Amino acid sequence: RLVYVLNGPNLNRLGKREPGIYGTQTLADIGAMLEARGATLGMTIAMRQSNHEGALVDWLHEAEDKGAHAVLLNAGAYTHTSVALLDAIRAISVPVVEVHLSNPHTREDFRHTSWVGMAARGTIAGFGARSYLLALEAAAEF
Ligand code: DQA
Repeated sequence: RLVYVLNGPNLNRLGKREPGIYGTQTLADIGAMLEARGATLGMTIAMRQSNHEGALVDWLHEAEDKGAHAVLLNAGAYTHTSVALLDAIRAISVPVVEVHLSNPHTREDFRHTSWVGMAARGTIAGFGARSYLLALEAAAEF
């Protein structure tokens, strides 16, 4: 079972980006964690990151075309702005789990709206890097 893990803008800076909010683990660390857990759950991880909205749209389509079992999506700030991502999630039948390291609801008002969340199967937020693991465990049950 193939699981796409798609990461949006600024997540390539994890580890040094606002560590008080996002922690000190890098995206590569999170990828390694997911691969290890995925192996025990019989899931293969395809980890991607882009700072460009359209790349995330393309990968959502690709997840469907490759027959992915699920997508874990941390769209970063595009979460709060992107109708294109909402439409892309609605355009595919692969279930998408919205993931955030921080809990956007405890932060600025502009982070309280999630276009991604409107179409996601569910959302896991606020547990740091563990949010990704919890999302993978949820996806294992789909
Ligand atoms: C984030 C939360 C977003 O509001 C923010 O723009 C990010 C990271 C998170 O993982 O906590 O870039 O998606």
